[in-house]
Amino acid sequence: MKISAAQTALLTWYDTHGRDLPWRCKSGVVADPYRVWLSEIMLQQTTVATVIPYFEAFVARWPQVADLAAAPLEDVLAAWAGLGYYSRARNLHACAQTVAGQFGGHFPSQEDDLRQLPGIGPYTAAAIAAIAFGRVAVVVDGNVARVMTRLHASPVPLRDNGAAIRQWATALTPQHRPGDHAQAVMDLGATLCRPTAPACGVCPLRGHCQAQAKGLARALPIKAEKPPKATRYGQAYLIEDSNGALLIDQRPLKGLLGGMHGLPTSSWLDDLPAPLAGSQDLDLIVRHTFTHFHLVLHLRGGTPDLARHFPNARFVTSLQGLALPSLFKKALKKANGPL
Ligand code: ADE
Repeated sequence: MKISAAQTALLTWYDTHGRDLPWRCKSGVVADPYRVWLSEIMLQQTTVATVIPYFEAFVARWPQVADLAAAPLEDVLAAWAGLGYYSRARNLHACAQTVAGQFGGHFPSQEDDLRQLPGIGPYTAAAIAAIAFGRVAVVVDGNVARVMTRLHASPVPLRDNGAAIRQWATALTPQHRPGDHAQAVMDLGATLCRPTAPACGVCPLRGHCQAQAKGLARALPIKAEKPPKATRYGQAYLIEDSNGALLIDQRPLKGLLGGMHGLPTSSWLDDLPAPLAGSQDLDLIVRHTFTHFHLVLHLRGGTPDLARHFPNARFVTSLQGLALPSLFKKALKKANGPL
């Protein structure tokens, strides 16, 4: 591959075909680090289309990092609901507080310093350094990995090919406009070099791509065998007091759905835990899939005295303002939506 010709082809393509995104400044202009950071944290778990309205809402409500730092955590978690993984929202808030409190509201510009901040891993540190500060940092996400695998027609599954992919991405990163380059490769992966049905006919890297030359683009990267997801089981309780208020628990801060509100539940285990004595089977089951396991939640009813088993729970008459994960929205819908 002629590296400099490939770099030029990518940047030229990006200048006309790169996506217009609300946190992005194109054509060599570096963007606001707060907006870049916020968008990158949001994009870690979901697609650009899902992120845009959340991003717009966050920057309208909290225009600068100090505003986000000053917001109550509860508000941030509630605004995050629907983006998944609340630990990211908690880290987002902690990071805003560190930047506002210890860095005078300015994100550091070096990858190593960025990585010290809560919730910022190698990918995000490189993305912020390149996109917001114009530093020559190598950005590797899933899209970049797929593009590199195809450019080099590598037969190794992504999972086992990290070092080679990083080397290829490093070799392709230019000294000039590294942030635009990173975004160009990501956009190429998202819009043309898609997992299925890659649009090789209009790809700016057509003349540089070994997979395309060998007719292998569609077949690469090779998929590694995935271990099947485990299934866990739990009990969830619908407990109302005599006024029809519903018992809502706050989950422990650490762990999955940390700090979120929802129905009180048992632990989620490999076998269904025994129900609380005095509760009744409602014959309702909710299934939900998380990244690493399936959950089967059995819904049970009970009298208000069962609240003594859930020290962090309280009876509420409205769910408004509570950050309720979709698992519990599903459960309440199944139970015909008390409240
Ligand atoms: N995915 C994650 N971050 C991105 C960015 N800055 N541009 C395009 N796609 C992305």
